[in-house]
Amino acid sequence: MAISTLTAHAARLRAADLVSLAAHRANQSRLSGAGWTLDLSRHFLDDPAEQALGALAESAGLSGALVDLFSGAEVNPSEDRSALHWALRDTSGPAPGARAVYETGQAALALARAIEEGRQVGHTGRPFSAIVHIGIGGSDFGPRLISDAFSDMATPGVTVRFCANLDPLDLDLALTGLDPETTLISGISKSFGTEETLYNLNRARQWLQQALGEGWSNHMALVTANVTRAQRWAGSETPLILDLPETVGGRFSIWSAGSLACMISLGPDLFEDFLAGAAAMDQHVRTSPLQTNMAVRLALLDVWNSSVMGFSSRAVLAYSRRLRLLPTYLQQLEMESNGKAVTPDGAPVPLATAPLLWGGEGTIGQHSYHQWLHQGTQIVPAEFILAPGSHSDPEGVLSLSAHVLAQAEVLANGRSLAEVLAAEPGLDPVIAAQKEHRGGRPYTLLCTPTLTPHALGALIALYEHRTFLAGRLWGVNSFDQWGVEAGKTMAAQIKPALRGNQRATDPVTASLVEIQRGSPIPSEGH
Ligand code: F6P
Repeated sequence: MAISTLTAHAARLRAADLVSLAAHRANQSRLSGAGWTLDLSRHFLDDPAEQALGALAESAGLSGALVDLFSGAEVNPSEDRSALHWALRDTSGPAPGARAVYETGQAALALARAIEEGRQVGHTGRPFSAIVHIGIGGSDFGPRLISDAFSDMATPGVTVRFCANLDPLDLDLALTGLDPETTLISGISKSFGTEETLYNLNRARQWLQQALGEGWSNHMALVTANVTRAQRWAGSETPLILDLPETVGGRFSIWSAGSLACMISLGPDLFEDFLAGAAAMDQHVRTSPLQTNMAVRLALLDVWNSSVMGFSSRAVLAYSRRLRLLPTYLQQLEMESNGKAVTPDGAPVPLATAPLLWGGEGTIGQHSYHQWLHQGTQIVPAEFILAPGSHSDPEGVLSLSAHVLAQAEVLANGRSLAEVLAAEPGLDPVIAAQKEHRGGRPYTLLCTPTLTPHALGALIALYEHRTFLAGRLWGVNSFDQWGVEAGKTMAAQIKPALRGNQRATDPVTASLVEIQRGSPIPSEGH
């Protein structure tokens, strides 16, 4: 299946009217699985184009890709690894090593249970009532998302805080008001070599040591794939060390011991519901034919919109208070996984790959960037997620749903000048022109009746599989991230310049270093 076939369809459909395209697709483009419904009616697609995408799925071997993933084949060739994140939620994974991966998550759940039941306490015998999670990127976004999503379900009397930033204020705030005697620090770093995390862990250890002396290590749990480095960091003391398997990538580790803080603050039972939701989605993705497989269809849509139609960004609009951190989480999952331009063989990818992903919480975004979405000059496919966090007030849920459907319809169908004037007869034509919406903005809708832990697990597993499959279609390795290394190395080279020990080699950087050191930049001619 050549991409030129899809390009030919796009040339025809780009000029088509989204209203009539959607009229033929309503009801045909609806899929469901693991408690979620997916509607793909309003995209620049018709039957021939869908068939061409189906042929692409076949020729790119998406069924085989899923078999590879779930059988533990080496899907991460640049690091010689399989990707076994799914095993953390699978009690029966037959793939080599899958059971061992599952057990690592269970060990963290067992620790959370021991803390919940008061069997694991602090150095002075007092129970833990606060947990501070220290980690960054994939060792931060997931647990932060779950904690925020279900903060109302947290165990009463247990405080959870997060710290990721090198800005010293982040840890200062995370520790404010906490008592070291009742605080557990949970340090997550797969590599145990990440500067931000080690910086914050060093400061957190000092804070514990000042109050507890050698007892500090009873108040620290380290989650890592590099136990040797963690032990070296701990010195003669022995903090708790939990395993983060090498085959679980950071941005796929939300299911792992890295989420210890959530397991403790929200309770292990809630976390198990979250895992069960993901397992249900795994089952859907593993067993559904390509045509009705939500992850496959979303991956194909990503290629269609980004690489073929040329839409370079996608807006995730989460109509759910519980999902307000989801766009941030997905940015790492999708953009770190598929923001690549070279195949595992080192050849350039001939297509645009992952789009810029951005978004926020509905309806709040309606009072901000929706203006740009509706009447701006760029077309951005939207992804609405309707998943109320509570049904405590049916009227609120009804309004939330009404707003999603209204925003979606106006984006797609627009509002013509005639409609504006029909609604406001006699309106000044100059104003009327400004009230026109061109429409033609495609969108996806994902919905579930209530955003429970089970529903969140299913949703994130869906995005994980979509990301992997889209990566296969683009021909990139979704499980490595070489592009983040150069900046880290450069920061290490700039530090001596900031300390005044040497000069930065790049002239612009050198002048900016001078500003940071408090010396004015000499103006031209001086
Ligand atoms: O810099 C990118 C990255 O390697 C991410 O992929 C990862 O999630 C994050 O840093 C944190 O890494 P670690 O868990 O090894 O500290």
